[in-house]
Amino acid sequence: MSRPAVARIDFAALRDNLRTIRQRVSGARLWAVIKANGYGHGLIPVAHALREADGLAVSCLEEALLLREAGIRQPILLLEGLFGPDEIQAAWEAGLELVVHAEAALTVLEATPRRWPRLWIKIDTGMHRLGFSLHEFPDIHGRVARLSATDPGLMTHLASADEPGHPGVEAQLAAFWRVTQGRPGPRSLANSAAILQYPQCHADWVRPGLLLFGVSPVPGRLVEAMGLKPVMTFATEIMAIKRVHQGDRVGYGGVFQAEADGWIGIAAAGYGDGYPYHAPSGTPVTVAGRIVPLAGRVSMDMIAVDLGSHPVAIGSPVTLWGRDLPVETVARHAGTIPYELLCGVAQRVRHERVDVPEEQTDHVQTVDRVSL
Ligand SMILES: Cc1ncc(COP(=O)(O)O)c(C=O)c1O
Repeated sequence: MSRPAVARIDFAALRDNLRTIRQRVSGARLWAVIKANGYGHGLIPVAHALREADGLAVSCLEEALLLREAGIRQPILLLEGLFGPDEIQAAWEAGLELVVHAEAALTVLEATPRRWPRLWIKIDTGMHRLGFSLHEFPDIHGRVARLSATDPGLMTHLASADEPGHPGVEAQLAAFWRVTQGRPGPRSLANSAAILQYPQCHADWVRPGLLLFGVSPVPGRLVEAMGLKPVMTFATEIMAIKRVHQGDRVGYGGVFQAEADGWIGIAAAGYGDGYPYHAPSGTPVTVAGRIVPLAGRVSMDMIAVDLGSHPVAIGSPVTLWGRDLPVETVARHAGTIPYELLCGVAQRVRHERVDVPEEQTDHVQTVDRVSL
């Protein structure tokens, strides 16, 4: 027997999600964004499952080289470009496509002139994180074009695509189309939220990350209805059961107090596994097919759940998030975003390859002490 905390990764769902997204973007090509260890799902296995993607996008050279070492031959895009001159040779040999987002990086490339397969110019249309200003862009375009074997790609990133009808998005899109008008080269603007909410900016290449993993980037909007399925199920088991009496306090600080006599289950996963410390009492957890509330503070290795008057057996299955409990819901309770929860699953958590059968999702009931 080993510690039961496990991240089950459903690669069939991942492949299906890719196809579903593709149907939605009417012919646009697709960079599958799999940085940060494939959003916590495992970089290499995720890349192998996404062979149908037109390319893979990661944040840095280290991630790209891991993909090449694993035999991945698809185009790879470095979303943050190169961090210094020492990366040029390896990036070149690996045949990477680079985002060029700042003068310093461009100067580095110009100092060792060569024809990169394709360079992408990142234009700052209003997010003010990375990218050349609208004013700098025309001059930069000429310089980048001299280093690129093909017309440079033109890209931008939207700050508020997760908010439907946000005026900032319209302003960014207008600035992008205006400044790039008449220039050759592929365009790329849409992350997951923009794929869902702003079809007018799907353009030539979309860049979905979170959506591939079956998770919604838009608060309050689940993506099940679109046919997307969560890829990760973060699960564990009940390792102990406690009888409590009305007024008893549970866990560190005793912040949970039993309102009635009943049962507390102790599940084997905590913030040391990536379960969010800030999840408050009442955050939903699935235990043996029943949704019950978290009770008290999250410990490093354990959480407590309020089983009310219905004890369960030691070893009962617990879902922290996944197929029968959206990670979006847990994130909302914990005051964070699903991205952080997925990326934060700790290294000590076993990853298991599975295809979760549909029937596992059928027998989940909710109890009214939990708001989903
Ligand atoms: C430039 C860029 N494009 C696309 C993405 C994918 O975003 P999402 O996971 O919201 O689809 C990211 C992720 O942060 C990004 O930085």
